[in-house]
Formats: sequence, structure tokens, C-alpha cells
Amino acid sequence: MKRTLIVTTIFLAMTATTFAADITLPPPQKSGGKPIFDAINERHSSRSFDESALDNQTLSDLLWAGFGYNRENKRTAPSPKDLQETDIYVIIKEGVYLYDAKSNKLLEKNTGDFRGDATMSQEFVKTAPVNFIFVIDKSKDSGNGAFYSVGAISENIYLVAASKGLGTVVRTSVNKAALKKSLKLNANQEAVAGQTIGKKK
Ligand SMILES: Cc1cc2nc3c(=O)[nH]c(=O)nc-3n(C[C@H](O)[C@H](O)[C@H](O)COP(=O)(O)O)c2cc1C
Repeated sequence: MKRTLIVTTIFLAMTATTFAADITLPPPQKSGGKPIFDAINERHSSRSFDESALDNQTLSDLLWAGFGYNRENKRTAPSPKDLQETDIYVIIKEGVYLYDAKSNKLLEKNTGDFRGDATMSQEFVKTAPVNFIFVIDKSKDSGNGAFYSVGAISENIYLVAASKGLGTVVRTSVNKAALKKSLKLNANQEAVAGQTIGKKK
């Protein structure tokens, strides 16, 4: 009886540690920032990044602007027939996470440094603090519509980056085969682009 109790306690402790790896983001900032015309005027691509991490508030703001919910079950970016076929995965030095917009959490998918999978040959991607990976679900949208969603999501992120003075670049040059494994994607999912983000160097 005593041994069963000890084993159960150890198991529960281990389970709790596993689940604790998810990250609860602070609520996103949904107002303020630079005026929209200033942000558009300052939008540009950057390819030189400081290696320091971005804080969770910044991640929350960028992800919400990218593809969060701004109405009941509706998103900050359009999608064909409102299919909402795109997911944003977040690669940081410590691991890979799926942005769950409903709960505003980063759900842990893998541990370890997989930033190199976010590029085919661009060195700065491997040391920049954050890479968002846009993953489409082809069982929801089998045509080209999803690419328009990804474009809209990425532009929202560009504008918030401009508002915050951060650097960013959207890239279709990602290692799709490697990402399939490191993001643990299923047969219907495809990583179509990445967006590198960080403080400008
Ligand atoms: C669909 C698409 C794919 C892109 N792929 C890459 C890429 O793989 N690597 C990269 O460094 N930039 C990439 N870019 C960024 C463009 O090179 C960049 O937007 C362009 O040079 C114009 O510069 P600007 O964004 O500063 O206006 C891509 C942009 C788009 C829209």
C-alpha cells in the first residue's frame, strides 16, 4: 500500500513537470502602438538580429496580431471561407511550441534548439531569438487560398514589429523536410514559410 502510494506520487510529480512545459502568455496588447500609417511607412525586412530573447508580452502581441482572435471565433487575419487553416509554430532556442490562440498559450511540441530547421542557408536564422513557422492544414484547404492567409498573417506581424521597433523578415526558404520532424507535423500539415523576429542588431 505504502509502495503504491509512493509510486503514484512520483508518477503524478513527473506528469505535472511534463505539462508545466507549456507557456501561458500574458494577455496581448490590443490597442495603442504606433499609428497604422506610421507602421506601414516603417515596415521593412531585416536580416541582422541581436541574439537576446524576446519577452512573453512581445511574443503574445506579435502572435495575437498575426492570427489571434479579435471576435467570437474570428481572427485578426482573413482566411478563405474562414477555414482558419494556418497554425503558427514558435521556434526559440529552448524548443518548439504551437501557438494556441484560444487559450493564449504556447504548447510545447519539442525540446532542443531547432532554429536551423527554419532555413535552408541563411545563417542569421540560426541565432535570431525567434522564428515563427506558418503551417497549413491541407485537409482544410487544398488550394492556394492558405498562401493568402499566410501573407496576411505575416503582414500583421510585420506591422507590429515596425510599431515596436523590432526587426523581422518573412521567408519561404525554410527546410520543410526537417520542420516536418522537429514540429512533429502530421501527413496533412506543411510548413510553407517562416518569419524571423528579434531586436535589430
Ligand atoms: C513570399 C515571400 C518569400 C520570401 N522569402 C524570403 C526568403 O526566403 N529569405 C529572405 O531573406 N527574404 C525573403 N522574403 C523577403 C523579401 O526578400 C523582401 O520582402 C523583399 O526583398 C522586399 O524588401 P522589404 O520587405 O524590406 O520591402 C520573402 C518575401 C515574400 C513575400
